[in-house]
Amino acid sequence: MNEYDIAAAYIKERIAVSLGDFRPELAIILGSGLGGLADEVETPVVIPYGDIPGFSVSTAPNHRGRLVVGLLGGRRVICMQGRLHYYEGHSMQRIIFPVRVFARLGVGKLIVTNAAGGIKRDFTVGDIMLIDDHINLQGTNPLVGPNDDSFGERFCDMTFVYDPEMKEAALRAAEKAGVPLRRGVYIAVTGPSYETPAEIRAFRALGADAVGMSTVPEVIAASHAGMKVLGFSLITNMAAGILKVRLSGDEVIAVGERQSKVLVGLVRAVVEAL
Ligand code: HPA
Repeated sequence: MNEYDIAAAYIKERIAVSLGDFRPELAIILGSGLGGLADEVETPVVIPYGDIPGFSVSTAPNHRGRLVVGLLGGRRVICMQGRLHYYEGHSMQRIIFPVRVFARLGVGKLIVTNAAGGIKRDFTVGDIMLIDDHINLQGTNPLVGPNDDSFGERFCDMTFVYDPEMKEAALRAAEKAGVPLRRGVYIAVTGPSYETPAEIRAFRALGADAVGMSTVPEVIAASHAGMKVLGFSLITNMAAGILKVRLSGDEVIAVGERQSKVLVGLVRAVVEAL
């Protein structure tokens, strides 16, 4: 047994105590201020990351650091309430570890959420952006190193990394729920410093619509492992230089919390529609 199998076996055991042979089909990663969705999970089995062999504990503010397994909108879900970031000092290996364990558990779909800064000028704070595509500017790739063939092939395709069918389902669910949905390209940086106004101008020229410090490593690992991925960014602030104000992490979290209800409602509607 390798470390992925050990962690998967541990999670299965914890689930089995209350839910028997319950196999999660969909994983949901909840970003800054967005953990509230996990509170809506029915028959929840809560497993702190610290209990799971191989899982690292998140030190980011407002990231609770636990798995919540149960039913949401009639689907069997496994939620990460809080994620790991590269800026915390975790290796890429540790950041993608949970996603690989989900793959081992048989999870076939992943929904990722994050807080992001709006680059596109017609975005406003509180908007929700369906992630159409991403740009990886973290300076590394989580698949660097020996390839683990048990997950996927060495050179994995990224053409349809955000699954077209899941996007369609998301657009339909958003319309039905009356939630206006923006679309765009997410650019991932390492942080933890926010960007300079010059960087934001450069990212806009590159084709990015929103910027954040997460998501892309997990998405690459999930795609490598054959999972279908859907992503949403909550625009918690306009990116540096757009509004001529200073950026603050506290503000990002406050907006995340204030606006999270809409995103939580949307993700719930999407889950039901999948
Ligand atoms: N930049 C980077 N990451 C972020 C931002 C931002 O403006 N807002 C939320 N996460």
